[in-house]
Amino acid sequence: MSAGAGPRPLLLVVGGCGGLVGRAVLEEFSSDHRIRSVHRHPAEGEPEHGVEWIRQDAAEVPAWEPILEGVDTILVSAWFRQAPRRRFVKLGAGLVRLVRAADRAGIRRLVHLSVPDAPEELERTLPYLTEKRAVDRAIRESSLQYTIVRPTMLFAERDRLLTVLLGLAARYRRLPMFGDGTYHVSPLASRDLSRIVRREGAAGSRTTITVGGPRRWEYRELTDELFRSLGLPARYVSLSPRNSVRLAALLEALGSSLVYAYEIRWLLSDRLGVPPYPGLPQPLETVEPFLARQARRLRQGAPPPGGRGPAR
Ligand SMILES: NC(=O)c1ccc[n+]([C@@H]2O[C@H](COP(=O)([O-])OP(=O)(O)OC[C@H]3O[C@@H](n4cnc5c(N)ncnc54)[C@H](OP(=O)(O)O)[C@@H]3O)[C@@H](O)[C@H]2O)c1
Repeated sequence: MSAGAGPRPLLLVVGGCGGLVGRAVLEEFSSDHRIRSVHRHPAEGEPEHGVEWIRQDAAEVPAWEPILEGVDTILVSAWFRQAPRRRFVKLGAGLVRLVRAADRAGIRRLVHLSVPDAPEELERTLPYLTEKRAVDRAIRESSLQYTIVRPTMLFAERDRLLTVLLGLAARYRRLPMFGDGTYHVSPLASRDLSRIVRREGAAGSRTTITVGGPRRWEYRELTDELFRSLGLPARYVSLSPRNSVRLAALLEALGSSLVYAYEIRWLLSDRLGVPPYPGLPQPLETVEPFLARQARRLRQGAPPPGGRGPAR
């Protein structure tokens, strides 16, 4: 996906440029690509970058063919963090229709944002995963040049884990510790993910990659670092693994989107400390400067920046 001498290549972002990844994709691609987006709500940043917004729910696009006209590369990023099963099924089916239409139309490249392996029971039963995997399968069965990119947890301003934890720690001076905290995470900057999308989109090598950031942390080391960035001693309310999942389920039942029970089970299963992506020309961003920046904002009295909420 590099800029050539002719007209700028057209990137179709199914999911748009308003989400965590979408914002970074807009920053990465808007200087040398035209961008067309398909999503439902206005996204700040899209109008001033000249993004051609097709206001549609990807689950309900009646025909993908006109949307695919002139497209060089498709990035599929639309998904929900939490929603009823039927919404995952509908969106998954819409994305499978997109994949088939792209295959028929001879689109050159497709990048799908998927997720790393999860515990077997979640893979079998959780609509978030079963429907995501159905899209992955449809892509593998197509004749498209594709990369399925499976990033671990992402960080960026307004993310839904580190920024939220930072806000909680600043406010309550302690954090819940799920289990013993010795399982691993390797946070990846969403800006690096957008660079990975560029590189993989150019390669289009019919492959699936699971990608993380530069350091594989023990979860507790990372939360210790988070307290350090705030200049606070690390203090925890210890919860057994079972009670951690129960707490998340309770919050979920009360309508909170802070953390979901499946996310805690995934974290505790120690599958999120995946290896770093090896192919970028510049080093992957480390998490410490990000935490320091966010902590400074909090100390200066900015409200804890939160995510925009998952399933709308
Ligand atoms: N965040 C992470 O840590 C992480 C980790 C691994 C993988 N991923 C994957 O990366 C992708 C992007 O994640 P994200 O964190 O950027 O999510 P996000 O912030 O929730 O953004 C997702 C975007 O998808 C759009 N969308 C949702 N449902 C849609 C629908 N039915 N039709 C059209 N657009 C729809 C939403 O825009 P509208 O509201 O305007 O429709 C939203 O801006 C997802 O596929 C996710 O599974 C994320």
